[in-house]
Amino acid sequence: MTVSITKCSREDLPRLREISIETFTDTFKDQNSPENLMAYLEKAFNEEQLEKELAHSSSEFYFVYFQDELAGLLKVNMNDAQTEPMGDDSLEIERIYIRSQFQRKGLGQYLINQAMDIAKTHNKKRLWLGVWEKNENAIHFYKKIGFVQTGAHSFYMGDEEQTDFIMQIALA
Ligand SMILES: CC(C)(COP(=O)(O)OP(=O)(O)OC[C@H]1O[C@@H](n2cnc3c(N)ncnc32)[C@H](O)[C@@H]1OP(=O)(O)O)[C@@H](O)C(=O)NCCC(=O)NCCS
Repeated sequence: MTVSITKCSREDLPRLREISIETFTDTFKDQNSPENLMAYLEKAFNEEQLEKELAHSSSEFYFVYFQDELAGLLKVNMNDAQTEPMGDDSLEIERIYIRSQFQRKGLGQYLINQAMDIAKTHNKKRLWLGVWEKNENAIHFYKKIGFVQTGAHSFYMGDEEQTDFIMQIALA
């Protein structure tokens, strides 16, 4: 299989917006109201917001390709870009999304390896992320890799307060 990865820049904004909306919707539409989902999509993935995130010096976005087709995305945060004050020893995986037709081909694992490489390059000691307590597939995926739950925080899907588990893995 041919897998490749590219780092996103400002020019990727339209495709980033498209794939973010597609994958987030596919993942969460069955367990959330259309109103709450739409409110989140508008807040998180409007052009201005994504442009700001792309320009942040401590955040990086990547696209992963499977046989030259765009198959998913990764967003990592360091330092003050992290969504919780986890310290400068940590790297956050804020978004890891594989389009549905490309899931279970090893691409998620590939993106985790990429995040680990970035973290090691920046001398980070651990990876962490927040995952919705009801996202059983993703929790299974993270546990298999070796992430463990260390806490929880609130996440707002529209006006609904939800619980995200915080999971971490130490880097060797
Ligand atoms: C979760 C996700 C990133 C995993 O990526 P993926 O490319 O599908 O997973 P991989 O092929 O790398 O899987 C590696 C292992 O993780 C486990 N795993 C992955 N997806 C799983 C699922 N849906 N159910 C149970 N186990 C799963 C399996 O053990 C798998 O190994 P196997 O296929 O040999 O059994 C991807 O399915 C996805 O984008 N899901 C929707 C978005 C999402 O929930 N993102 C996370 C938000 S916090």
